[in-house]
This record gives sequence, structure tokens and C-alpha cells, in this order.
Amino acid sequence: MKKLTSSFQLPCGSLFQNRIAKSAMSENIGTYKHAPTKTLINAYKVWAAGQPGLLITGNIMVDSKALGEPRNVVVEDYRHFDALKEWAATVQGTGVHLWPQINHPGRQAFSWINQKVVAPSAVPLRMGGASRMFQQPEPLEENEIWTIIKRFGTTARILKEAGFTGCQIHGAHGYLVSQFLSPHTNIRTDQWGGSLKNRARFVVEVYQEIRRQVGANYPVGIKINSADFQRGGFTETESMEVVGILSNLGIDLIEISGGTYEKPAMVKRQKKSTQAREAYFLDYVEKVRKQTQTPLMLTGGFRTRKGMEAALDSDCLDIVGLARPFCLHPRLPKDLFEKKYDRLSAPVPKIGIALLDKIGGVELPWYEIQIQRLGQGKEPHLQLSGLIVFVTSILRMIRKALAKN
Ligand SMILES: Cc1cc2nc3c(=O)[nH]c(=O)nc-3n(C[C@H](O)[C@H](O)[C@H](O)COP(=O)(O)O)c2cc1C
Repeated sequence: MKKLTSSFQLPCGSLFQNRIAKSAMSENIGTYKHAPTKTLINAYKVWAAGQPGLLITGNIMVDSKALGEPRNVVVEDYRHFDALKEWAATVQGTGVHLWPQINHPGRQAFSWINQKVVAPSAVPLRMGGASRMFQQPEPLEENEIWTIIKRFGTTARILKEAGFTGCQIHGAHGYLVSQFLSPHTNIRTDQWGGSLKNRARFVVEVYQEIRRQVGANYPVGIKINSADFQRGGFTETESMEVVGILSNLGIDLIEISGGTYEKPAMVKRQKKSTQAREAYFLDYVEKVRKQTQTPLMLTGGFRTRKGMEAALDSDCLDIVGLARPFCLHPRLPKDLFEKKYDRLSAPVPKIGIALLDKIGGVELPWYEIQIQRLGQGKEPHLQLSGLIVFVTSILRMIRKALAKN
């Protein structure tokens, strides 16, 4: 376990006390006015007590008019500053770093919580029956693009002032940054579309605006797709080029993931050829390691101490990212290091109705409820029924839609 428990220093000087990071999980437990709740803040106290190197929050939105989920935290000004300070203070004295993940959903924004949905181009989501929950996005105007870029910077700066110790751009999973990168969702013919250089312009400008607002030595990372796994989408080769561009600009940490709402590779292994390997995107990270010295974090599929150790020993990554296991093993990594278990659980809960399980099921809300339980001082509930979670989510959706009208 030598490497897993060893510290790691980013080139900017930030020191992680070990190699385990909690990857972002949208908690969906902000208030309906998008402030962090006590429950949300308490969940981070629980996680901080487990002593990971780094905790990355669930995605925080840059605009209250562009939500991924109804109860996202939004930071666009100082209105929730006291609660943000309280959230950032959860890691005080623990040696744990706490970074917010900053996001704009672009076209992956449910119609029932967003009046206007914007994206690089008017390309609708194709998700079978579930597509009905989304509307055709409106292509962003030049001035709107610059406004969003500015928002990323403002959100990062306010969170820095609140006490967060770094930040991460959400550049993966088919949200706005990733929509600009992908030729499937970005069919623009201006300076923001076409060549990879043009499609990468948005992420480059977002990074530079954040850097301008937070200063030179503050850690800024990104979560990026190894690929979208979609025909005509962002490829591995393109992803490696973007990693190269961001590395040259001095980004501090690159987290590797993959997939979009249309192809949710982030929570499921995609390639049969990688079956024997625990982490989903290990093949990619091995390739990308050869071309960048920037610290790399890999997330998706890690479940055993042995698997994490082997990946670190291969020297192709620096930080092991874990998401779902943190919901069911809240004292990670302490308990793992103390050998209280060897294998982490992260089941895929089912509703029990084949058709519904096929179109996306109940996985995310099931894990969100586990986070809520942690914040309420309860232990995780492994036997929680998928059907009950499904019915509760529908009722919540109706309540929110009624509140809107
Ligand atoms: C409930 C839930 C919410 C998630 N929300 C986010 C998010 O806000 N941002 C993000 O980058 N990834 C999000 N993810 C994806 C995870 O960060 C991670 O990439 C994925 O779960 C694979 O890692 P794991 O196998 O360790 O769970 C979420 C996953 C779950 C289960």
C-alpha cells in the first residue's frame, strides 16, 4: 500500500496527504434557491473525517438559469457566501483539500427546470423515450459565449474567497465544455467550431479566465473525457491533443473519465477488451501519460486496494478517483488503509421494471439519497429499494414543476 498512502505534491505546491480523491458527485441537496444546505455541508464533514487527499464537490453551476438538477448549488455572486464559507471550513484542520467542480450543463438541462436551454449548436439529445425531458437547445451567440466564460471565472474566484483550496472545470460527460469539444454537438462554422483548435477554444478561454481571476498559484484542474464513445463524437486522439494544450497552459491536475448522457460510459465499462482491468479508462491513461507530465487522476471502476495499487505502480496515474464507493464507505480511505475491507461496494440499483431500468434506471438518485443520509448523520443503506427511490424522484419532480408554475 506504500504508494496509495504516500503524499503527492502538485507542481503549484499543494500537497495531497495520500493518493485517494473523491470524484465529483452531484448531491442534488442544495436549497431550491441553490445554496448549500446543512445536510450537504455535513456530508463533507463525514467525508473529511475519512482523510482522503482530495474531495471534489458535486457540480456547482455558474448560472441559476442553466441547471443540471433542481437542487444544484449555484455560485454567481455573493448571496450564499456564508454557507459557502461553512462548506469550505469542513476540511479545516484535516489536511484534506476541497475543490468545487464548476459546470454549465449546456443542452443536458431538463426542460422542466430550465426555461431556455443553450448549447454550441441546435443538436437535440437522442435518448429514446427520455429525450422528451429535454428541449432542442438554442445555439449560443458570440456575446453569450463570452458571458459564460466570465461566469466560470467569477464562480471560481468567489469559491476561492470562501476558502476552497482549488477548483475543477467540468469538461467531461457531455456538459457544455464537452459539447464544445465534440464535433457531434458542435457544428458551428465560426471561431468556436470546426477544427479541434476551434472546438478547444472554449475550454482554453474558460481555463484562462479562471486563471486570471484566481491567480497563478491556485490549483485549477479539469475533468475530461478520454472519449465520448459516440459515432462522430470526441475521440481518444482528440482528447490527447486537448490534454496537451491544457498541459502547456499549466493546468494543475487532469482527471480522466468518459461518456455523455447519450452514452453513459462514466459509470459503465464500454470496451470488452478492457474487461480484465478494474478501472474503465486505464488503457487511455497509459497512452496519455506518455505525452504529458501534468498530474493525472483516473476515475471509474476502481474497487479493490490491489487494483488501485497496481494502477499507481504502473506510473501512468498519480491520483485514484473514486465516486460511488464514497457513498457506501464514508470513512474512505481511512478504513481501506486500516484494512477494514479489501473490496469496495458500488452496486447498480434497479427499479425492477425492465423498460425503466433500460432507459437509465435509478442509479444516480439512489446514490444521491445515500449522500443525503450521510449528511443527516445516518449510515449508508445498502438495501434501499430502487423502486422507492424511483417513486420518490417522480414525486419530487412533480413538486418542483408545480412550484415553478
Ligand atoms: C450520484 C452521482 C452523481 C455524479 N455527479 C457527477 C458530477 O457532478 N460531476 C462529475 O464529473 N461526475 C459525476 N458523477 C460521475 C462520477 O464522478 C464518476 O466519474 C463515476 O461515478 C465513476 O466513478 P466510480 O466508478 O468510482 O463511481 C456522478 C456519479 C454519481 C453516481
